[in-house]
Amino acid sequence: MRFNLTICTVLFSAFQAFAQNSPVVIPLETTQNALVLQADKDNYLGIIYFGKKLGQPTEYQQIPAQSRQRDGNAGTYNSAYTPAGSWNVSEPAIQVTQGDGNKSLDLVYVSHKTVKENDNVSLTSVVLKDPVYPVEVTLHYKIYAQENVVEQWSVISNNGKAPLTLQKYASANLYFTGKDFYLTHYNGTWAKEMNPEEEHLTAGIRVLDSKLGTRANLFQPPSFMLSMDKPATETSGKVLLGTLAWSGNFRMDFEVDSYHNLRLIAGINNYASEYPVSGNQEFKTPAFIYTFSENGKGEASRNLHNWARKYRILDGEGSRLTLLNNWEATYFDFNEEKLSGLFKDGKKLGVDLFLLDDGWFANKYPRNNDQAGLGDWQENIKKLPHGIGYLVKEAKNAGIKFGIWVEPEMVNPKSELYEKHPDWVIKQPQRPEHYMRNQLPLDLSNPEVQNFVYGILDKLFTENPEIAYIKWDCNAITFNAYSAYLEKSKQKQSQLYVDYVKGLYKVLEKLRAKYPKVPMMLCSGGGGRVDYEALKYFTEFWPSDNTDPLERIFMQWEYSYFFPAITQSAHVTDWGKQPSKFRTDVAMMGKLGYDIVVSHLDEKDLQFSQQAVSTYNAIKDVVWHGDLYRLVDPKENDFSSLMFTTKNKERAVLFSYLTGNRNGDGSEIAFRLEGLDPAKKYKVRELNLYPGTKTAIKEDQVYSGEFLMTAGFNPVVSARRTSVIIEISAVQ
Ligand code: GLA
Repeated sequence: MRFNLTICTVLFSAFQAFAQNSPVVIPLETTQNALVLQADKDNYLGIIYFGKKLGQPTEYQQIPAQSRQRDGNAGTYNSAYTPAGSWNVSEPAIQVTQGDGNKSLDLVYVSHKTVKENDNVSLTSVVLKDPVYPVEVTLHYKIYAQENVVEQWSVISNNGKAPLTLQKYASANLYFTGKDFYLTHYNGTWAKEMNPEEEHLTAGIRVLDSKLGTRANLFQPPSFMLSMDKPATETSGKVLLGTLAWSGNFRMDFEVDSYHNLRLIAGINNYASEYPVSGNQEFKTPAFIYTFSENGKGEASRNLHNWARKYRILDGEGSRLTLLNNWEATYFDFNEEKLSGLFKDGKKLGVDLFLLDDGWFANKYPRNNDQAGLGDWQENIKKLPHGIGYLVKEAKNAGIKFGIWVEPEMVNPKSELYEKHPDWVIKQPQRPEHYMRNQLPLDLSNPEVQNFVYGILDKLFTENPEIAYIKWDCNAITFNAYSAYLEKSKQKQSQLYVDYVKGLYKVLEKLRAKYPKVPMMLCSGGGGRVDYEALKYFTEFWPSDNTDPLERIFMQWEYSYFFPAITQSAHVTDWGKQPSKFRTDVAMMGKLGYDIVVSHLDEKDLQFSQQAVSTYNAIKDVVWHGDLYRLVDPKENDFSSLMFTTKNKERAVLFSYLTGNRNGDGSEIAFRLEGLDPAKKYKVRELNLYPGTKTAIKEDQVYSGEFLMTAGFNPVVSARRTSVIIEISAVQ
């Protein structure tokens, strides 16, 4: 997204503050919240407030005087960017080795300015510098007022000649005062992504991190929720939602200090990642993105969704394609004839696109399983003698668009690519290779490898301009991190983790410059890589290979705190024991796709699925662009319910599922809906009924919004009605 820069710059400096004999106070305000920085008499910049904004900004300066937490530690914990090696000995945001080998850094406030990009967006940058060494740090706070979102990053400048080495280089350093803090973080592994755990933080440092490199989020994503005072609910409590926009190793330190306040330091993981900055160069950290609400997780996540769709996700406010994928239908076993049949099946189903998955390439070592061929991106002539171009045409003849799977960052040792370019592969020269899924990452710190990866996609698009969709996979973590390129070019091995990610972004940037629109799915064996930097280039992501709908109810619920439904690909597959209606209803809460053998569906299931695709087309606008309200949490109940409402509150779609299996489980009584207009009148209608079944809802009744949001509504979820979709529309 580009803005016309209306420059309305306010520049303020330490000198002016001195002249006016008043402290420098920098209130960074959104519509609801404020983060307030203040420089003390020695020009050390601290955070004096974080929370609901005050009507009178001049009153922020009164805040420090209210605190009795003043002893020998005063001023150490609340630093706006804690340097290491000088007087401040708490966990640092930045740690360096100076050119002369000295390990100290100190930072004092110099000046700040605010540039207004438009009525909603402004960027405040605050310059700090070391009084002794030529090092400067600029803290950037990009404020999205309406969405209550802050994007924060730092730029570290080496203004001297001697090289500077960064040992730690966080994006953001925040400080929250309060008594109790509750951290919700996520753990997982393949097919078990996004398991939440909430813990009361106690004294000391709790670290969330990844050292996995390429598939960085496999065990833990860089996203969390932080409740203050008490655990927040959907509709109450103070809660911060935070996430790091970086597709590599991350580290977040949550330190409960000796006052029982909380320090947060978030950024790239400095593990094995010392980074050199040569003279007159700078290092820009990725952005830490957060939103805060005093009204619970629901409001916080809607704010994040609004921001993400409008300002971040590629085509976030646009449209998406429904699709039929052949992965689970064929795995590696297909040929032109089989695929042509599947194109027709996709058309019969009514979806927009056919997605050809893994297995279409490599000849010397054909890609007939996951042990060979990765890296050799020529069509396999046995399976596809007429090439991709023929498939695109065949699909077109069948009346369906064509998309294709790639995993361009990886290589199987059994491949021509590996034979030709062993030095392009990340591996230790003297140690045995160690694989995940029989493969290794290519070294994207190497510009030649970047060109190769770009070339794979560029060739596909150039030869087949009608390719309408890409699924970009990444199935291995980084073992034995070592780069032959960095060695040869006399750079540091410790740059590899960072330069890999930078290399990846270079490729994506170049690709998007030439192919700005083609939808791309971000996949990493499921949710091994989902973040808001990658989503600048991708339109959607694959949350998990686990498509058991019961598991997906829980998983999609958790992802939904951070990522809007338009980004969550959800496919109907044969996983799970539930009937096809249940499987379809769950997938309809995200971006609908199918990965089934359509010809195996019986007549009723086929009829149901065809109707479901057209029903989805009728409600997708509400799901993709509406406001999400999570109503009944499957972790705490035997059923689950959530709804999407259009911004004008004219239409809503309510999804409910039975998640327990004891006798009597389900929605016995009504529960409150949300996001409607209390003064409007609404009718309700059940959607996606299975052929031959009838609704249990009274559809001729008109309800006020007030009724639905106060007395509530019962969609009648029971063992006989395990999934229910209700459309709620305003009537005149
Ligand atoms: C990964 C993806 C799957 C599929 C396979 C293909 O596991 O998550 O969806 O594309 O790779 O090998």
